[in-house]
Amino acid sequence: MTETTAIILAAGISSRMNTKMAKVLHEVCGRPMLAYVLDACRQAGIKKMYVVVGFSSEQVKEKFADADDIVWIRQEKQLGTGHAVLCCKDHLKDFQGQTLVLCGDGPLIRTQTLTKLIKEHEAGHSSATLATAVLEEPAGYGRIVRDKYGNIKGIVEDSDCTKEELEIREINPSYYLFNNKILFDTLANIQPDNVKGEYYLTDVISGILATDRKVLAIKAVMPEEALSINSRAQLSEVSKIMQQRIQRELMEHGVTIVDPDNTWIDARAKIGQDTIIEPFTYIHGQVVIGQNCRIGPFAYLRDGTVLNSNVILGVFTEIKNSVLGESVRARHHSYIGDTNVGRNVNIGAGSITANYDGQKVHKTSIGNNCHIGSGAILIAPLVIQDNSIVSAGTVVSQENVNQLGRKADSDVS
Ligand code: UD1
Ligand code: MG
Repeated sequence: MTETTAIILAAGISSRMNTKMAKVLHEVCGRPMLAYVLDACRQAGIKKMYVVVGFSSEQVKEKFADADDIVWIRQEKQLGTGHAVLCCKDHLKDFQGQTLVLCGDGPLIRTQTLTKLIKEHEAGHSSATLATAVLEEPAGYGRIVRDKYGNIKGIVEDSDCTKEELEIREINPSYYLFNNKILFDTLANIQPDNVKGEYYLTDVISGILATDRKVLAIKAVMPEEALSINSRAQLSEVSKIMQQRIQRELMEHGVTIVDPDNTWIDARAKIGQDTIIEPFTYIHGQVVIGQNCRIGPFAYLRDGTVLNSNVILGVFTEIKNSVLGESVRARHHSYIGDTNVGRNVNIGAGSITANYDGQKVHKTSIGNNCHIGSGAILIAPLVIQDNSIVSAGTVVSQENVNQLGRKADSDVS
């Protein structure tokens, strides 16, 4: 089997996004868009990715500092996608395998498409293979031009299309696989003779064909997967599709989402079987929810929330960086932050942890079987022992925590 590596282009300035941040760091369902492209490669078996960065490159590298399978390549001036690939030459010129080239602004890419691309490329003994999509509205994308036998002749950028070419609905989503040596040999000869004056990667296709080598173009990309992000409007469009994917997968794993259109779940969230997510629930960050929970309506779960099974959270409860034990109930208007809550605790309406003293965030611990009455304020740092009773309206702090009542042994389940 031929070894496959990947180049991911992420150096663009992205004027259409109107942003000071690197485009690939903008988040789609809680993760930077580049993270999805990297994951699709990893799941397709790619062990090393060359990511080309330029604009705000330090920010991008910092965000992915933990990944040890990325080689960062710097493109000083953004002279076009062909030039961006050429920046990898020093690293890849002696590589004998095949190279995927993808864009960092296409997070809807699916692993199965990459796997198919690799399979067809190898089976067809092709020098380059690209996966294409057929769109109702192809405006903005490079068009796939084929001859009368259906063989690909080349890719023409939207801005360089003739009137007839603008009618072509088969487009280039920028999913390519190349024989590595042929890629770099051909790139050396491309010229920036187009409307934008850029070195186009797309010109490599006609360049390879000109040397009588085989290029395959397979229609393997669903229209939604071809969407890339060049503007804020496309960012929201892609996020919506990603959200649908996340929810569909959760539902397949046995989670009930009562009203998918009015629920938002982070890509990193994990939710157990038979949990019910009621409408207007917003789950953001690394959140783990166990089995048989009932969340919402109008619940807000933030980063670091871990809920064990049978937890019930009702309207306007906000949980942050907290672990809630089995069968905890907080049905209305509560804020629980930086807290460890034991098993079988009832948290009454309007009770909150006051975890921030204006300078520092402090921790709260609530033991098993506690009863926290309505409207209680728990001032952190604070440790509440098992079986404690906090009466409604109490302000509990380190000073008075020893005066709390206790449940009778017969009441403790
Ligand atoms: C590109 C393709 C087009 C295709 C479309 C699919 C070319 C010439 N055109 O157009 O055929 O339909 O993607 O989404 O390739 N980048 C760099 N360095 C540069 C320029 C761009 O790293 O000098 C990166 C960008 O950050 C981006 C990617 O390359 O991630 C694509 O660039 P972009 O400007 O978005 O190209 P499109 O106009 O979308
Ligand atoms: Mg683009």
